[in-house]
Amino acid sequence: MPGSMANVPKDLLQQIQHLEEIFTVSTEKMKEITDHFVRELTKGLTVEGGSIPMNPTWCMGFPTGYETGTFLALDMGGTNLRVCEITLPEEKGEFDIIQSKYRMPEELKTGTADELWGYIADCLQQFIEYHHEGEDLDELPLGFTFSYPATQDYINHGVLQRWTKGFDIDGVEGKDVVPPFEAALAERGVPIKLTALINDTTGTLIASAYTDTAMKVGCIFGTGCNAAYMETCGEVPKLAHMKLDPETPIAINCEWGAFDNEHVVLPRTQYDVIIDKESPRPGQQAFEKMIAGLYLGEVFRLVLVDLYEKSHIFEGQDIAKLKRAYSLDASFLSSIEEDPYENLSETQDLLANKLSIQATRPELELCRRLAELIGTRAARLSSCGVAAIAKKKGWESFHVGADGSVFNKYPHFKTRGAAALREIFDWPKGKRDPIDIRAAEDGSGVGAALIAALTLKRIQEGNVAGIQHPETMLKGTKAADKKSDQV
Ligand code: GLC
Repeated sequence: MPGSMANVPKDLLQQIQHLEEIFTVSTEKMKEITDHFVRELTKGLTVEGGSIPMNPTWCMGFPTGYETGTFLALDMGGTNLRVCEITLPEEKGEFDIIQSKYRMPEELKTGTADELWGYIADCLQQFIEYHHEGEDLDELPLGFTFSYPATQDYINHGVLQRWTKGFDIDGVEGKDVVPPFEAALAERGVPIKLTALINDTTGTLIASAYTDTAMKVGCIFGTGCNAAYMETCGEVPKLAHMKLDPETPIAINCEWGAFDNEHVVLPRTQYDVIIDKESPRPGQQAFEKMIAGLYLGEVFRLVLVDLYEKSHIFEGQDIAKLKRAYSLDASFLSSIEEDPYENLSETQDLLANKLSIQATRPELELCRRLAELIGTRAARLSSCGVAAIAKKKGWESFHVGADGSVFNKYPHFKTRGAAALREIFDWPKGKRDPIDIRAAEDGSGVGAALIAALTLKRIQEGNVAGIQHPETMLKGTKAADKKSDQV
């Protein structure tokens, strides 16, 4: 294992020990967080609500694997905008996909609502022109993955509660995002009908359940962090007025990034406090800000700046580059954790190239340990959320479908998360873990298409709970034609 503390001077060793104290989440603490989390999940489902939104998604059940039809899927991510066309054939659990990626210009994240919807509609138009040139198209049904907290009275509607993940576009919060989106499509004459507005976690859950019946939770560990799971309507007091069958399943988008916004249980450090204060939405997403990819590099950067200012590291060096907020992303930490060399020479090059800092060997050791601490804390806290859903539902053995850059790319995230679950539940060593967090199917593509398919199927069956203007949805869609042929 590279890195060794043997030659680290006393002062720096003390700093490292202090960092270990503030960033380590003990087993006991994880158990305490999990128990509080269970209460908060339950509270979020009540009429009064709590910090965690627990949004009903109107995705009412798992796919059978026999869904069919052709659907568009749109994913508005932080870096890319992805448009897919997905065909679900007759064969169980199969799908065909064609897709295009468009860059999501950074300025859009803080621009105007018109610019945002206009840009997205342009991309969809381009996609259709490219893949269906000269065709006389019926309206294609679309599953739109809009991965922000949205209150949904209907599956084809969604009032943005607040922007997360650094987005800050005026005039969108508190409003239904579907009408301006559809207006932008209509202006351009793009033949698309929004069938379902979904969250990436719900998409992940449904896409993974398409081929794996043990799937019960969908998680994203990426730029943001969140989970969805299948609840029953009877367990959702805030839906009681709708008098739905209590046994009917309904996927809940937890929006657990908001867990502990009131700062009762999470072991926040002074650095987490700064991240929150300087963010576009202070007081929001307390849990997410300690875990998600958007913030991991920033925690690391803030610690280094603090240690520099207290004259513990990088003495006499110009740290102008390090002083730029959000200049380091999670991949910077990944690279440090992946440095295979005993003398941490890759870390040294990274600091030199990216930050123009010449670090001493002990400083490199500190950086390595700090990255480990931040990455481990993120994985352990994440597992508290998974454990809380399991406890709340009394589920003992199941699969969790996980996606996102941190889950897929951050070194050791999976093994650290699995170890944390083992500690929380006191599972015996040497046996197969009953809860398995594994890589998910493509939620914002296949998941969005499946949810659109499930929605159209519900309409055909006359089960229109949580669907606005269902009569307009089946008109002329290829998927619907295909479906109605089968009815
Ligand atoms: C943020 C969003 C949430 C999303 C998550 C992962 O937490 O609020 O909707 O699921 O990021 O992308």
